[in-house]
Amino acid sequence: MINNQRFTPRITGLGAYLPEKILSNSDLEAMVETTDDWIVSRTGMKERRIAHAEEFTSDMGAKAALIALEKAGVLATDVDLIICATLTPDYTFPSTAALLQKELGAINAAAFDVQAACSGFIYGLSIAKAYVTSGIYKNILLVASEKLSSIVNYKDRNTCVLFGDGACAALIANEGPGLVVGETSLGADGEQASLLMLPAGGARHPASLETVEKEMHFIFMDGKETFKHAVRRMEAAAKEVLEKSGLKEAEISWLIPHQANIRIIDAMAKRFSVPDERVYKTVHKYGNTSASSIGIALFDLMNEGVVNKGEHLLLVAFGAGLTWGATILTATEE
Ligand code: ACO
Repeated sequence: MINNQRFTPRITGLGAYLPEKILSNSDLEAMVETTDDWIVSRTGMKERRIAHAEEFTSDMGAKAALIALEKAGVLATDVDLIICATLTPDYTFPSTAALLQKELGAINAAAFDVQAACSGFIYGLSIAKAYVTSGIYKNILLVASEKLSSIVNYKDRNTCVLFGDGACAALIANEGPGLVVGETSLGADGEQASLLMLPAGGARHPASLETVEKEMHFIFMDGKETFKHAVRRMEAAAKEVLEKSGLKEAEISWLIPHQANIRIIDAMAKRFSVPDERVYKTVHKYGNTSASSIGIALFDLMNEGVVNKGEHLLLVAFGAGLTWGATILTATEE
């Protein structure tokens, strides 16, 4: 641990893990009354990944984390803190971050979970940034992992076509080449909490025969209302973070929005002067993987080798809570 200094946080290693099993639109056609046409035209999704029965949020997170650590050249024992962003933790407690700490052998790391739904990666990044900037910690492992298939009702066509499983990880350090974590802008609106939730399983409605019979352990979403908030809030968060950074829209080389729906992404992108080919999309192949969606997209984009030194990336998220957030990453010159 180091103190009383200011450091520039940067992502020095990224990782991602997607389960092998593919759930295609034609698979869904056999499960609920839907069509490939409806799903593609209303959401842009063609397939999504589903974890196997014995594969959990911590397992997927650990696989993504190992890749991120290797890329960063950091040993698990050198990690100071593990933050796990998830709304599908292995257990309500202990935290999934603690399970990851054990799984990775990160014996010197503190560990906690962040619950900001689909905005979890951006919220987690902002926490990591604050710890690294202040000099409290040097190496932070941010993991975002979701087994959404464990809370999706595969009899409800309104939601079951939308979600997929997967994980991402980022090592945030105080030195080394990578993506510098710049300004961040976060927000929330608890007034709209009921738009998108898991009604039971918490202290308000603990699991009971009644909650199971009423199917309260599955995702509930008012899709139409959520859609409207998503576009507005992501646009506002993105504009706020640009202003804070002193950057113009034209200076953004890549826009990486939360991958909830191609129509939300397109509506968002239209409000910015970022050309379509610079708006990174994975929604067609992974669906909405909640907290992990932006990190998985970032991992895929960086692996394409198309991000040049000095370029700015704008990440913008939106999710249950409601929560939203945006951040700027800049590819270092080193
Ligand atoms: N197949 C066929 N028809 C369907 C399906 C389906 N899979 N799902 C819904 N429909 C029907 C509805 O029943 C409705 O029929 P009706 O008019 O007879 O009642 C009709 O299609 C239209 O439904 P809408 O809800 O109006 O469809 P919409 O165009 O709004 O698309 C969607 C629905 C895809 C859910 C969209 O609203 C959306 O993407 N919302 C936002 C999701 C989001 O951003 N989530 C945020 C983060 S998630 C998180 O934090 C966990």
